Amino acid sequence: MAESMMGLKRSCRCAEVTKNQIGETVTLMGWVQKARNKGGIIFVDLRDRSGIMQLIFENGDIDEEGFAKAGKLRSEFVIAVTGRVEARTGAVNTNLTTGELEIRCTSLRILSEAETPPFAVEENSKTREEIRLKYRFLDLRRPDLQRNLMVRSRVAQLTRAFMANEGFLEIETPMLIKSTPEGARDYVVPSRVHPGTFYALPQSPQIFKQLLMCSGYDRYIQIVKCFRDEDLRADRQPEFTQIDMELSFVDVDDVIDVNERLLAYLFKEILGVEVQLPIQRMTWQECMDRFGSDKPDLRFGMELKNVSEVVKDCEFAVFKNALVSGGTVRGINAEGQGGMPRKKIDKLVDFVKDYGAKGLAYIAIAEDGSFKSSFAKFMKPEEMDALIAAMDGKPGDLLLFAADKNTVVWAALGALRIELARQMDLLDKNEYKFLWVTEFPLLEWSEEEQRFTAMHHPFTMPMEEDWDKIDTDPGSVRAKAYDIVLNGTEIGGGSVRIHQDDIQEKMFEVLGFTKEQAWERFGFLLNAFKYGVPPHAGLAYGLDRLVMLMVQADSIRDVIAFPKVKDASDLMSEAPAAIDEKQLKELCLKVDIPDEA
Ligand code: AMO
Ligand code: AMP
Repeated sequence: MAESMMGLKRSCRCAEVTKNQIGETVTLMGWVQKARNKGGIIFVDLRDRSGIMQLIFENGDIDEEGFAKAGKLRSEFVIAVTGRVEARTGAVNTNLTTGELEIRCTSLRILSEAETPPFAVEENSKTREEIRLKYRFLDLRRPDLQRNLMVRSRVAQLTRAFMANEGFLEIETPMLIKSTPEGARDYVVPSRVHPGTFYALPQSPQIFKQLLMCSGYDRYIQIVKCFRDEDLRADRQPEFTQIDMELSFVDVDDVIDVNERLLAYLFKEILGVEVQLPIQRMTWQECMDRFGSDKPDLRFGMELKNVSEVVKDCEFAVFKNALVSGGTVRGINAEGQGGMPRKKIDKLVDFVKDYGAKGLAYIAIAEDGSFKSSFAKFMKPEEMDALIAAMDGKPGDLLLFAADKNTVVWAALGALRIELARQMDLLDKNEYKFLWVTEFPLLEWSEEEQRFTAMHHPFTMPMEEDWDKIDTDPGSVRAKAYDIVLNGTEIGGGSVRIHQDDIQEKMFEVLGFTKEQAWERFGFLLNAFKYGVPPHAGLAYGLDRLVMLMVQADSIRDVIAFPKVKDASDLMSEAPAAIDEKQLKELCLKVDIPDEA
C-alpha cells in the first residue's frame, strides 16, 4: 500500500540535520537502509543521497497504527517521517555525520514498498558487477557511487564557472555529423530521408571547434559526449565525455597555462590538494627512454636504462641479435626484489610476452653479492660486472632486461615497471603526479596499413624546426602536440592546429590521401581555411578518466551513471537490440549477418 505525500514537505536531507536543531521538528524522506524491531521500540536507518539518519519509533510518541506500520518496514521501502531531533541516547556512531543525533518519530507514511533487492545497497559491494549493472538503478543508490557522481557534477560545474571567467563560450556542436573516420571506428546512424546514407556520431568535436575558431569565437568550451567504436578497457567506454576546448591566437604555452590553473582549481576545490605549478614537462622522447611509456607514472622511479653499449660485444645471442638488427637492450632495477622466487620471475616473463617481447633476461643479486642469472653462462664475468654496475645493481636487487626493437622494449619494460610497482606496493593513491608530455612524433608508421598515420590527428601542427624533413624522414618530424598525464593515465590531450592550407594539404598527402579524397572527407574544413583562419590550438580531457582518478575508482564505469560493459552492451536496458521490420523498411535497410557472426 503506497501512501501519498500530500500535505508533507521535506525539511532537509538526512545528513543535513545538525545538532543546532535538537528539539526541533523535522520531516525527512528517503529509503529504509535497515529496520530493527526490538519489541516496544523500532530503530530504522533512513538513507538519502546525503547519508543516514537513525529514526526511533516508540509507542506513545507515535499512535498505534503508525507503530504497527513501522513494524512492517523493510529495506528499500520509501518513507516519510515527521519527528523531533534528539541527541542520541544509545551509543554514538562516530562513523556517521549524524551519529550523535536521532529522530523520535511522531508520524510515518509508507510512500512505496519494495521487494527484497537482489543485493544489499551498501558501500564497497562484493556483488558481481554484472548483477549490479543489470540493476543499475539499485546500484546507483550505493553511497560510494553517489559520492562519485556528486564529484563528477562538481567537476563539471566548477569547470564551467572557471572557464566562463576566463572568457570561454559554451557552444554546442552537432551529434549527427558526416563520417570522417580518423582514429577509431565510427558509430553510424541511418538517414530515413536520404535512404542509403548515414550520419556518424562524433568521435570528438574536433573539426567543428576548429570551424568555430574560423568564425571568430576565439575561446570555446563544451562538456560533450563522444562516441568511438573501439575495444573497451578499464579506462575506455564507447560513449564518454570530454571537456573540450579550443583557443585562437595562441601557442602551446597559452593552452598549458589556462589548463594548469583549471586543474589546480579543481583539485583544490574538490580534494583540497595543492597542485604544484608549473606542472612538470617532458618530451615524448625522454618519456619513452626513461619510462618506456608516453604516459609515465611518476609516483615512483625504477627507470629504464639503455645498456646496449655495455653489452655490445657480448656473446649472448639474444642481446647480440637484437643489436645487430637495429634494436636495443634495456633494463630496469627492481630494488630489493633479488629474493623473488623463480616461479614469480617466470610469471614476469609471461607478462612481458603479452607486450610482444620474446623473453626477459634477469640477474637476481643475493644479499651476499652472489647472483643467479638466466644468461650468465653466455657472458664473461667482467661483462656481467659491467652490466650490474651500469644498472646500479646492489645486493638484494633484481635486474630485468629486454632486447628487441625499441617499440617492443619500451612497451614491455614500460608495462613491467607498472606491474612491479603494483606488486611492490609503490602506488600511493593519495599522491597526484601530473606531467605534460610534449613534442610527440607527428606521424606513426602503421604496419597494418603500410603507411604513415597521424599520431594525434591530421590537423596537428608540425614543429617548424622539423618541417623540412617531411619528405626525407617523415617519421622524425615532431608535432606541437601535448598530453596531460596523471599517475600514469592520459587524462587529456591536444595540439596546436595547422592553419595554413599548404601545410594541411601536404599533411593529407603524407597520410596517403589524394587531393580529391581529402576534399571529399574534410572539404568543409579546407574550404573554411580559404576565408581567413586564425592560428588556433586546443585540448580535450576525458572527464570520466579525470573523475575516476579524483575519486580513486578502479574503473571508469564507477563514475558513469549508466555505463556499458566490455562488449559495448548495456546490461540494464539490453542495448543494442534488433529493430523491427517496419523501422528497417522505413530506412530501406536489410540485415545480412554472415554465418560466422
Ligand atoms: P583524444 O582522442 O586524445 O583527443 O581524446 C581526449 C581525451 O579523451 C579521453 N578518451 C576517452 N575516455 C574514455 N573512453 C574512451 N574511449 C576515450 N577516448 C579518449 C582521454 C583522452 O585524453 N579532439 C582531440 C582533442 C584535441 O586535439 O583538442 C581528441 O579527441 O582522456
Ligand atoms: P634462451 O637462450 O632463449 O633460453 O634465453 C635465455 C634467457 O633470455 C631467458 O631468460 C629468456 O627469457 C631471455 N630472453 C629471450 N628472449 C629475450 C629478449 N628478447 N629479451 C630479453 N631476454 C630474452
